[in-house]
Amino acid sequence: MLVKGKHYRTIWLETENKPIVKTINQLLLPHKFEIAELKTSEDVCNAISSMLLRGAPLIGVAAAYGIYLACYESRNTNNIEEFKSEVLNKANKIKSTRPTAVNLFNAVNNSLSSINKQNSIPSKIEAAFEFANKLAESEIYYCEQIGKYGFEILEKLNKAKKGDVINILTHCNAGWLACIDYGTATSPIYKAKEKGIDVHVWVEETRPRNQGASLTAWELLENNIPHTIITDNAGGYVMQKGMVDIVIVGSDRTTLSGDVCNKIGTYKTALAAKDNNIPFYAALPITSFDFNIKDGIKEIPIEERNQDEVKYISGVYKNEIVRVLLTPENSNVKNYGFDITPSRLITGLITDKGIILPKESEIKKLTQR
Ligand code: MRU
Repeated sequence: MLVKGKHYRTIWLETENKPIVKTINQLLLPHKFEIAELKTSEDVCNAISSMLLRGAPLIGVAAAYGIYLACYESRNTNNIEEFKSEVLNKANKIKSTRPTAVNLFNAVNNSLSSINKQNSIPSKIEAAFEFANKLAESEIYYCEQIGKYGFEILEKLNKAKKGDVINILTHCNAGWLACIDYGTATSPIYKAKEKGIDVHVWVEETRPRNQGASLTAWELLENNIPHTIITDNAGGYVMQKGMVDIVIVGSDRTTLSGDVCNKIGTYKTALAAKDNNIPFYAALPITSFDFNIKDGIKEIPIEERNQDEVKYISGVYKNEIVRVLLTPENSNVKNYGFDITPSRLITGLITDKGIILPKESEIKKLTQR
């Protein structure tokens, strides 16, 4: 998508003398646009765990590039067994960076199995390289398809409103920064804008890391989409006042039975949508499904992050990014990163293969298409 009128992806590989993964440093947005360089598999681990890069599809692609860097780092090992054990060790480190988004595990496991099919060290390195590049391209394609299918819903709503502006509420950042391009929840919005439908986006700020306020709002602003930031607590109010036509969120892991795990607070947004008869959709690519589990509440590991993310907040003061304490310093804090929206609260899933109901019978079919 566009940044100051120039097209960017969130991650890419440069290979002059040696490979360098380049990515947008999301810790500095919206105040500073800076490209970070990840030169080693350890740099990739740090970028994922610090959330310099974040968002389920992007984490998956970064992990795949991390495996490629791990292979490259082991290019001079004496034999294949040594190569394999070094790469496996680093793959496990990459997997331990964050627990919730299933894209991370899918990417690492699939990259390892493509490497395992090769018999020489150079061909294994090549396989990891190709896997990562292909995954990045696929994620872009998935988001484009999500945009195409999601647009049909927005078009219908627009017709029902006789061409009046469509108000979409979203939570956190399931935009292009979280993916490689277009975004998941935002892709139908960009498509609607492109096709001349008037849209307006309610952006829930998404405490504690404020990815809605700092990232989604920045993306929408850069791409000329009308939007308004609200506190997480205001979502229900704007729904009650008839100011929301549809909710579209992303997902970090969706189960076979259609339970959607997404950024903390999504569940309360879904409850408010249900109470106000507002359609609630989750938009996600095939890589964010976990076909091995059914009960999201029991089976999805929910990340708990550092207390300081709740206790402190950062922003710009006199041109510097500063951090200030919000809470009593010694209060106890819990910082849950995600929650589960049970399938009963979800109108539909906008996938790269079409819109489906959040039901096992429909989700199973995705693996067969
Ligand atoms: O913790 P994050 O920022 O990596 O979480 C990801 C999210 O922003 C979301 O929950 C998002 O809606 C799904 S990723 C497209």
